[in-house]
Amino acid sequence: MGAALRTRITQLLGIDHPILGGGLMWLSDARYVAALVNAGCMGFITPRSYASEADFRDALALCTELTHGKPFGVNLTLSHRPEANSMVPRWMDASLGHGVKVFETAGHAPAELIKALHKANAVVVHKASSIRHALSAERAGADAIALVGMEEGGHPGMNELPTMLMGALAHGQFSVPVVLGGGIGRGNQLAAVLAQGLDGVLIGSRFLVCEEIQTHPRYKEHLLTCDEHSTVRLLQSLGTTWRVLLNDTASQVQAIERAGATEYAAFGDLISGTVARDRCYAEGDWRNGLVSLGPSIAFANRIEPLQDIVNGMVDEAVQAIAALRSMHSQNGMEQE
Ligand SMILES: Cc1cc2nc3c(=O)[nH]c(=O)nc-3n(C[C@H](O)[C@H](O)[C@H](O)COP(=O)(O)O)c2cc1C
Repeated sequence: MGAALRTRITQLLGIDHPILGGGLMWLSDARYVAALVNAGCMGFITPRSYASEADFRDALALCTELTHGKPFGVNLTLSHRPEANSMVPRWMDASLGHGVKVFETAGHAPAELIKALHKANAVVVHKASSIRHALSAERAGADAIALVGMEEGGHPGMNELPTMLMGALAHGQFSVPVVLGGGIGRGNQLAAVLAQGLDGVLIGSRFLVCEEIQTHPRYKEHLLTCDEHSTVRLLQSLGTTWRVLLNDTASQVQAIERAGATEYAAFGDLISGTVARDRCYAEGDWRNGLVSLGPSIAFANRIEPLQDIVNGMVDEAVQAIAALRSMHSQNGMEQE
């Protein structure tokens, strides 16, 4: 499929479709990111998912091979715990050294990182869950903003506002391109985002059932049974909201929170991210672990190549835009 929807984000990143696949801990590996790029979108490898820097470098090399040299991105997520960021400069240098030019930054206090990436002429899409943080990232030099609402799978921050409202609030406030994320999984939503005057969408959950994501088939099959009530937001009590699959672990965490816990220690291993990797993604035991997921999983009804999901979304967006256009011209004719 050729480019159908050209926006400032497709121009900035040199992609066909105004669709970004956000970084996914444990899952956005070389194969998935290459599938996004080859489908005309942009994707971001998550270095935190790799056991060593050498493994991460191997992933960069594999992605270059699978994309036949087309540009792809790297996600650099900054933790609020400084000790958890010690590898960020190494990952940045490894990526730049490999020729990566596009970064999705996320998390706490990104100004220094944005500055360092700009020194190397990289393009930075900063992901923020509040207008205030997004505006400060723009002031710090971000080339584009990914604004996410409370529907987002993963860590939507302490923001309580839904994506649609965030988009409307963003309108006219930014001079750089803005893409909207959180709960987006259909082409008519992409059309709605463009109608809001924004530049594209950022997607995570809807793409989890694509063939190229490396998770256990039992987990993917379970995702197909999920609806819009299958996820829950947890850990607001710790100030680190996490939207996850509603499973046994999520229910246990919910119960501990309701009992008044406000310290990490109260949750023990229940909130360790490696449980999702080892039990759910590797073994298909989706009942255990906090597994990042948002309600747009309701739109997934089959396991299919990523290219097919993307093509379906773009087709639907184009049809929605045409329907709006014809609605407008019909009204015009009636008035004449
Ligand atoms: C399984 C999963 C893992 C994620 N891991 C990360 C991550 O490591 N870093 C990050 O910046 N965002 C992460 N996110 C958020 C996504 O990049 C993206 O912002 C989000 O999925 C968009 O909302 P949606 O899930 O409603 O489509 C994750 C999301 C999911 C579903």
